[in-house]
Amino acid sequence: MAKFQLRWGILATGGIAETFGRDILLNPVTRGIHDIEHVIVAAAASSSQSRARTFLDKIGAPSSAVAYGSYQELTQNPDVDIIYISTPHSHHYQHCMLCLEAGKNVLCEKAFTTNAEQLKLVIRKAREKKVFLMEAVALEGMDKINSGVIGTVYRTFADLSMLSTPESLPDTHRLVSPKLAGGVLLDTGIYALTWIFQTLFTTQENPAPPTVLSTLRKYRLGTDEQVAVLLTFPREVDGDAHGIATASVRTSTDPDGRGTAGPAVRIQGSKGEIQVTHPAFRPTHTKIIFTDGKVEEKEWPQPGPGLGSGWYNGFRNEAGGVLNQEGEGHGMFWEADECAFALRDGRKESQHQSLAESLLVMQVMDQVRAQNNILFPDEIETTDYPIAI
Ligand SMILES: NC(=O)c1ccc[n+]([C@@H]2O[C@H](COP(=O)([O-])OP(=O)(O)OC[C@H]3O[C@@H](n4cnc5c(N)ncnc54)[C@H](OP(=O)(O)O)[C@@H]3O)[C@@H](O)[C@H]2O)c1
Repeated sequence: MAKFQLRWGILATGGIAETFGRDILLNPVTRGIHDIEHVIVAAAASSSQSRARTFLDKIGAPSSAVAYGSYQELTQNPDVDIIYISTPHSHHYQHCMLCLEAGKNVLCEKAFTTNAEQLKLVIRKAREKKVFLMEAVALEGMDKINSGVIGTVYRTFADLSMLSTPESLPDTHRLVSPKLAGGVLLDTGIYALTWIFQTLFTTQENPAPPTVLSTLRKYRLGTDEQVAVLLTFPREVDGDAHGIATASVRTSTDPDGRGTAGPAVRIQGSKGEIQVTHPAFRPTHTKIIFTDGKVEEKEWPQPGPGLGSGWYNGFRNEAGGVLNQEGEGHGMFWEADECAFALRDGRKESQHQSLAESLLVMQVMDQVRAQNNILFPDEIETTDYPIAI
């Protein structure tokens, strides 16, 4: 049977686009997937065409891949089925609308948009154009991790804190700049919130949105550098469940890089708890501790071409990060595979992370920002489109 081929366009050529590009160029057979394939047919850099060409060469894209010096041109390429958007989240609203208006399917990096009002319009546009739309935040393996083995879940703690020194970054860096919707909530806090939603919300039959209490510590530019969010999920049958989501750039979930500090995520239920090792965006180890004393540990290695391949991937920027082991994928191909399966099967959403859940998480982040007076400039909060930012 012929493989289903998904033809990608990459919009923006920064750090995570490189990681994504390398991952999806890996043969899906290395992860046991035989019926789909990914092809990168084009990439666009806003700064110059030569930057897009350099990017394509660097990740090892086929020489036939087209390089553009503007995002608009990319959206007009008829050979592009789906566009991966990897600009800073301040720009996602404008760029999602650009791609959707052109009738393209979209995989957009997290955080989906700057605020929930923007996301509502993006979802509406995708439905109007009858195209696929997904936020690149899905957590692979969640269904296996989260399969009810610990009974009724009452509480989830989740932290994604990666120590860096904001002072060492230029004030224009996307992690700290208000103009680029900087701050730890939208950058890593979103993963902590996603763990909480996936364990306390998505698992419920008729889930109700949580109430939200929060506090945060601000960086000198007015963006958040440390945040704590307390969520209460009302449940008809089992009573309230609590989620505690935290994120920081002043402290680390894993200060020595060896897991000594313990788990990044703890999902606690009536029969025990599931612990997930840092980092919460790419978990590779879990431990289940049952109340009867039994302990089950499991590795979830990311597939790839393996040791001896001389192939490396990972994510590193000025704020930190590490390369993965030789031959080990980063795990971004799972999201790309889900896009391929969805388009092959005629689905317009991910089956792992619904658009309704992405919107609720965005609404929670709006509430946290409102409670703590985190404001971004009007041009990136607006729902006007198109505007130049
Ligand atoms: N899933 C993950 O694990 C993960 C990890 C890191 C980041 N992210 C997300 O991915 C997005 C990009 O992060 P990144 O670390 O790749 O950022 P980055 O390295 O700064 O790259 C951002 C890219 O966007 C383009 N861009 C367009 N307008 C821009 C503007 N006004 N200011 C800055 N850049 C602009 C840039 O230029 P060109 O168009 O010329 O290329 C650049 O290549 C963010 O939303 C972030 O939250 C996800």
